[in-house]
Amino acid sequence: MAWRLHSSLRVVLSAAIFAALPLAVAAEELVAYKITNKTSIENSLTGKPGDPVNGRKVAINRKQGNCLACHALPVPEQPFHGEVGPDLSAAGSTLSEGAIRLRIVNPKAVNPDTFMPAFYRNDGFTRVAKKFQGKTILSAEQVEDVVAYLMTLKGN
Ligand code: HEC
Repeated sequence: MAWRLHSSLRVVLSAAIFAALPLAVAAEELVAYKITNKTSIENSLTGKPGDPVNGRKVAINRKQGNCLACHALPVPEQPFHGEVGPDLSAAGSTLSEGAIRLRIVNPKAVNPDTFMPAFYRNDGFTRVAKKFQGKTILSAEQVEDVVAYLMTLKGN
């Protein structure tokens, strides 16, 4: 398989070189991923399926996924759901697992003009505070947990 030397892999390599710098510590753990047809990431970032129960928590946590800021989800205990992005209540029946994974990892690969943040991409940002450089919003495990959660959403 022709694996491109993806930019996140380069981040990992430079993190190894600058391993003494504390801000590079999180980047060292970054997983390289492969985008297929500009539409999906087929393989789990962790190599195993995520935990949908934890994924729900990550998705609705305002300091983690914060998906409710822009999306409606079947989460009745939280009253305010955003409308900037599409309703995700049936994401698991309308989108493939790989498409959901790419959306979460790096939605700009799908739509360069999107408002949606990249949750697992730390390169290419134009203005990133020093303390966040080399860090992603979610860990690879958290991405997979949110993917697994969205795959359970089949609408009504
Ligand atoms: C700042 C707003 C914002 C946040 C936060 C956000 N999104 Fe999005 N999302 C969008 C927008 C806007 C779109 C519409 C497509 C586009 O812009 O390319 C979208 C599209 C999507 C899609 C594709 C839906 C479809 O039907 O094609 C998925 C899946 C998705 N988001 C998942 C998530 C998840 C999961 C989270 C939380 C981890 C999240 N989003 C957080 C704004 C956001």
